[in-house]
Amino acid sequence: MTTLTIRRPDDWHLHLRDGDMLKAVAPETARDFGRAIIMPNLVPPVVTAADATAYRDRILAALPEGADFKPLMTLYLTEGTDPADLAAAHESGLITAVKLYPAGATTNSDSGVKDINNAMHILEKMAEIGCPLCIHGEVTDSHIDIFDREAVFIDTILDPLRKRLPDLKIISEHITTKNGVDYVKSADKNLAATITTHHLIINRNHILAGGIRPHYYCLPVAKREEHRRALVDAATSGDARFFLGTDSAPHTDPNKLMECGCAGVFSATNTMSCLAHVFETEGKLENLEAFASLNGPTYYGLPVNTETLTLTKQGTPVTFPAKIETSTDPVTLFDPGFPLYWQVA
Ligand code: DOR
Ligand code: ZN
Repeated sequence: MTTLTIRRPDDWHLHLRDGDMLKAVAPETARDFGRAIIMPNLVPPVVTAADATAYRDRILAALPEGADFKPLMTLYLTEGTDPADLAAAHESGLITAVKLYPAGATTNSDSGVKDINNAMHILEKMAEIGCPLCIHGEVTDSHIDIFDREAVFIDTILDPLRKRLPDLKIISEHITTKNGVDYVKSADKNLAATITTHHLIINRNHILAGGIRPHYYCLPVAKREEHRRALVDAATSGDARFFLGTDSAPHTDPNKLMECGCAGVFSATNTMSCLAHVFETEGKLENLEAFASLNGPTYYGLPVNTETLTLTKQGTPVTFPAKIETSTDPVTLFDPGFPLYWQVA
């Protein structure tokens, strides 16, 4: 196969940031994607409906003229979130979901939830009104090994939460383990997972073997090869419970390369080429559309995009810029470590 036409894809987990960074990266996503779930971990975070309205307007203003892209806004869950404000924002269509960051789990998560029991009244409201919950599924206890934090979260937080609120629609975001894959497969309703482009391609050796590679450092951190394999099998299977959330998370090079560098991989620009490569290698190109364009909207209860996107396989590698410029410093694009032949037409 040398040409593949699929419904226009969506990105079910994206960081667009704000200000100059927003202006630099928004066009990179809007080029290939119809919609994206926009992460609310700004400084300060997007907590109220008023915050989300203002942020949505800044995103729309940052898009290139004529861009065919709709930001799907989220609220950042805090223990002080007003359930009535949240419910009104969901009812009006302003927000598509709410994001749960365990406090301290990742970038700008300090205002997140310290004890999920303190947010239970808000989560109950969400279950009642049908507002989906996106979860960063890692525990934060310092005595838990960073490579085990996702598996421990499933056992100690996610599973009890699902038993307590079976009607709450949950998205386990950017799963990185076989445990995560198996847990999602074991659920018959109200649980799905997003998988990033980079977690389909790198394992922990890519970060640490032969020198430390900060541009591959993200959270949850990439795990052993057996976990990457489980993610690839799930993503390419066509199983409707798994779909694309790139977690494209731009940080400028100085912020990635300093002594305590930021977590995040920026992959908006070449994600579709990378995914076509992965799916073709698995002999599963026919399932790329399900993963990138169909399963996400179906789970969220939204229509699939009517537009299409065509990828063509070139005879020589496609080139992408190594870096995206911002008004200050550049952002390095994800390097899959292999040549890319699939190009978005
Ligand atoms: O690698 C990550 N970067 N993981 C996250 O959860 C947050 C994100 C960011 O905002 O930079
Ligand atoms: Zn993220």
